[in-house]
Amino acid sequence: EKGPYDHFMLKEIFEQPDVFRRIIEARMDEKGKVRFPEMEMSNDVLGRVGRILITSAGTSWHAGLVGKLYFEKFARIATDVDLSSEFRYRNPIAEGDTMVIGISQSGETADTLAGILEAKSKFCRVLSFVNRVDSTIARDSDAFINLMAGPEIGVASTKAYTAQLLNMLFFSLYMSGIRWITQKEEREAIFEEIRKLPVKIESILARAEEIRHWAREYIGARDFIFLGRYYNHPTALEGALKLKEISYIHASGYAGGEFKHGPIALIDENIPVVCIAPKTEVYDKMVSNIQEVKARKGKILAICTEGDTMVPDLADHYFHIPAAPDFLTPLLTVIPLQLLAYYAAIERGCEPDQPRNLAKSVTVE
Ligand code: M6R
Repeated sequence: EKGPYDHFMLKEIFEQPDVFRRIIEARMDEKGKVRFPEMEMSNDVLGRVGRILITSAGTSWHAGLVGKLYFEKFARIATDVDLSSEFRYRNPIAEGDTMVIGISQSGETADTLAGILEAKSKFCRVLSFVNRVDSTIARDSDAFINLMAGPEIGVASTKAYTAQLLNMLFFSLYMSGIRWITQKEEREAIFEEIRKLPVKIESILARAEEIRHWAREYIGARDFIFLGRYYNHPTALEGALKLKEISYIHASGYAGGEFKHGPIALIDENIPVVCIAPKTEVYDKMVSNIQEVKARKGKILAICTEGDTMVPDLADHYFHIPAAPDFLTPLLTVIPLQLLAYYAAIERGCEPDQPRNLAKSVTVE
């Protein structure tokens, strides 16, 4: 079943262009409208949502952090994101117009399930984004959205993460339509950009060897730091989680703006710092972060946009991604970080599909 790939993780990383094609085809109809045929929640109910609370764990929590930005930008709905394990115990304020969204690849994560049950006990509507439509979380929610990533076998979530982002983006556009926030033309322009994503991801995957070189060079590092801002702050957290769970190298992700508030003290010539710096609204701020790392002799591994010359000049290594609107960059920048985690594991002789101490679904607390 792994086909030409040595591991499910690598296969699933390389499946992402096709997963995107499948989701795009399913979610966009011929008239340029977003559709979610499996979602059994009426536009009346959705139109009355005044606030969204997202509850999820691990990689799905990182997806929730991006989802918040989409829901606020496109649907203009105030959104909070909670770790499921915190949400379930803190007696969250969730009133009638609050919709709780659970995000779970497996649909079986114990804390996320407890969170949505807690939300239902408070009479909130519950919508879940799941990759397993036959799962407990799908069954116990008022409605669900199918991530359509296809079975994910590798313990490290890769294609389910990008499928979570893409489906939440579509859902935010769906909600913006219901709420008359974006016009048809504006949505069409966004669809045009979304349609370009599969080819862009393919162009990244075609250069996987470049990332393998990074992994080889830094195989001995004890710690890694990941920095990103705005749409790519969650990417920094996700890059760090992926690396530690698969290669057992300690890694932390930070918002670039937090760097000066503590983490900068860690920088010396031995620490690789992955700087996620595509051309976006916060590009200049990320360049400042890169200069701060350089001044302290940290090793800079940069993810930047094709055509950029400033970041490659400053960095020890750089990997470029195709240009894209700001809100689509997290769907591209995470791909090289998934590859970095995979190759770091391989180079260190770790088994990526069965990382120690981890299970695919965490069905106990
Ligand atoms: O199935 P879920 O999405 O609810 O799982 C949540 C986490 O357990 C999961 O994302 C975990 O962090 C992965 N191993 C990350 O790669």
